[in-house]
Amino acid sequence: MVHLSDMAFPPLKNDLIIRAAFGEVVERVPVWIMRQAGRYLPEFREERKKHDFFTICQTPELACEVTLQPIRRFDLDAAIIFSDILVIPQALGMEVLMKTGIGPVFPEPLVHPADMDKLDANVDVSTKLKYVYEAITLTRQKLEGKVPLIGFSGAPYTLMGYMIEGGGSKTMSKAKKWLYTQPEASHKLLKLLTKVIIAYLIEQVAAGAQLLQVFESSAEHLGPALFEKYSLPYLEEIAAGVKQGITERGLGDVPLIVFAKGAYHSISKLSYAGYNVVGLDWTVDPNIARDFCHIAVQGNLDPCALYSPKEDLIEKTTEMVRQFGVRNYIANLGHGIYPDMDPESVRTFVDTVHSVSEEIMKK
Ligand code: CP3
Repeated sequence: MVHLSDMAFPPLKNDLIIRAAFGEVVERVPVWIMRQAGRYLPEFREERKKHDFFTICQTPELACEVTLQPIRRFDLDAAIIFSDILVIPQALGMEVLMKTGIGPVFPEPLVHPADMDKLDANVDVSTKLKYVYEAITLTRQKLEGKVPLIGFSGAPYTLMGYMIEGGGSKTMSKAKKWLYTQPEASHKLLKLLTKVIIAYLIEQVAAGAQLLQVFESSAEHLGPALFEKYSLPYLEEIAAGVKQGITERGLGDVPLIVFAKGAYHSISKLSYAGYNVVGLDWTVDPNIARDFCHIAVQGNLDPCALYSPKEDLIEKTTEMVRQFGVRNYIANLGHGIYPDMDPESVRTFVDTVHSVSEEIMKK
C-alpha cells in the first residue's frame, strides 16, 4: 500500500531494515550504527571545524550532508537523521550548549520544581522544530531511496535527567533525588515531555522519517522499580500515541525501536510496550535476549570491539550474528561509536554482518 508520506519521495530500493523490524523474512541482516554520523569520520570533523554543533542541527543542508557521509562510505542499511535528543529541552525554552571535550551544558538547569514554570509547556513543536523536519525531508530526497531514514527522540526520563543535571552525569543523583522526593513534580515533567515527544515524532514521520528510535539512554540509572514507575509507562504512551497519530494522519505504519540502555531487567516488558523492535545494549547476552523477547531485536556488539584487530572483529561480529540468528534481527553496536575509532572498523563490521548472514540464509 502506498502511503501519503511515500508519494513525494523516490522509491525505496533497500527496505531490509523495515521488513526485519516488522518481523518479515529478509535476504540478509540489515545493519546500522548508533552515532554513525560523527567525529570518527574525518569529513564530519571538517564540517565541525566550520560550524557549531547546533548550527549543523539547525541548518537542513548541513544536517543532510553529515547524515549522508557514512552512507557514502559504507554499505549501511539505514541512515539516521543528524540531530540531537537535546533539541526538545531547547524547544521548551532551555539553553543548551555543546562544549568541545565536555559535551552538552545547560547554563540554567531545573533546580526546583518551580523552575518548570519557566518551560514553554504549550510549545508548538510543529513550528519550533521545523528545522528538523526540513532536514528529514531534504535528506529523504537526497538519499534517492538508497536506504530508509531513521528519525529519533530522547525518551522522557533521559531528557528530564539532562534538564536537571545540566549535562551528563555519572550518577544522575540530582534527577533521581527528584524521583524520590518530588514524585508529583517528576510525573508532571515526564508527562509534559511525553506530550511533546509524541507530537515531535509524528511530525518527523510526516516529514519523511521511515523508522523511529526512542533513546532511553539513562535507563541504566534506574533499577527495575524506578524504571517501571518513571520510564516504562511513558515509553508505552509514546508508542501508542505515535502509532495512533500517524494512522490518523494517513501516514501508514512506521516501525518503532526502543533503546533503553541498561534496562536488561525489563527486556520482556519492553517487548510488550508497543514497539516493533527492542534495542539491546552490549551487556545483554543474545541468548537471554531471545528468551525474554518475542519481537525483533537490535544490537549489540560492544562498541569497544571496534578497537580489535580486523580478524578478531570479524570473529566477534560473526559470533554475534550466529547467536542472534538471522530472523527478527537488526545488527548494530550496543551503544554509539566513539570518536577515536577507525572508520575501517565500521566497514569490517558492516560487511561481516552482510556476508555472514547471507551465508547462513543460503544453507
Ligand atoms: O549518527 C547518529 O547517531 C545521529 C546523531 C545523534 C547525535 N546524538 C549526534 C551527536 C544521535 C542519535 C544523538 C542522540 C543522543 N544525544 C543521545 C542518545 C544516544 C546515546 O548516545 O545514548 C544522547 C544521550 C545525546 C546527548 C549528547 N549529545 C551527549 C551526551 C553528547 C556528548 C557526547 C559526545 O559524544 O560528545 C552529545 C553530542 C553529540 N551528539 C555529538 C554528535 C555527533 C558530538 C558532538 C560534537 O560533534 O562536538
